[in-house]
Amino acid sequence: MNETAQQKPVPIVILGGTGNGLVAAQVIKDMQRAGQAVEMLGFLNDHQGQDEHIGGYPILGTTREWASLAEDVLFHCSLLGVGNVQARAALFESLEIPEERLATLIHPTTCIADDVVIGRGVMICSFVTCQPGARIGRLGSIRAGANIGHDATLGDYAYVGPNATLCGYATVGKGGYVAPNAVLRDRTEMGEYAVLAAGAVAFKDIEPHSTWIGNPARRAV
Ligand SMILES: CC(C)(COP(=O)(O)OP(=O)(O)OC[C@H]1O[C@@H](n2cnc3c(N)ncnc32)[C@H](O)[C@@H]1OP(=O)(O)O)[C@@H](O)C(=O)NCCC(=O)NCCS
Repeated sequence: MNETAQQKPVPIVILGGTGNGLVAAQVIKDMQRAGQAVEMLGFLNDHQGQDEHIGGYPILGTTREWASLAEDVLFHCSLLGVGNVQARAALFESLEIPEERLATLIHPTTCIADDVVIGRGVMICSFVTCQPGARIGRLGSIRAGANIGHDATLGDYAYVGPNATLCGYATVGKGGYVAPNAVLRDRTEMGEYAVLAAGAVAFKDIEPHSTWIGNPARRAV
């Protein structure tokens, strides 16, 4: 093949580090293996030095230094974790990275219906299914094997953990956190920055900023 005809890979830098950051790096690697023109360049990390590496990738600076990187670099936010979504979202917003510089990562093994709306900066991991009519807000994260039911809605910064299920018309507010193996029953609403615990099954609406645990899920905090 004529090498000049090949598409130049889009360089992607992840804000974050071990854990969530390396999950995102793996998605980029799998996209590249599947023939997509992307490459994982490195991390921006506020806690580790520039002479260190994360998973073999270089640390290119702190998150505040994003603008010093080349103009063709896209950024992916992997700063999220249970209990700190609101603070991390505020940190990310304060960086004022333009929308067009956000990298959306979609693993090649996902099954996504044609009409699903996906916001910028989202990550959808391996073997996720998004059913018709689903809407995924910007900077959301959907982990391996999760199922986003038909007409379900995820707000910005929402997280859906591995193997979790949102049934049809379920709604997760901004920064809502659906932990691994949790289930949100059809038409239930989860308020912003609420947490549904690992393995919990929610049959009722969940208030903003609350934590629900168990099956049937009960409010814990
Ligand atoms: C909801 C959650 C945040 C609560 O964590 P926490 O506030 O640290 O709570 P603790 O671990 O101190 O547990 C408090 C009590 O609730 C129980 N509990 C905690 N999580 C539970 C769950 N998911 N289901 C049932 N009981 C649970 C604990 O056993 C403990 O019971 P005890 O008081 O009788 O000993 C946590 O359980 C959870 O679901 N985390 C998500 C993990 C995750 O997303 N990991 C990354 C993705 S792989």
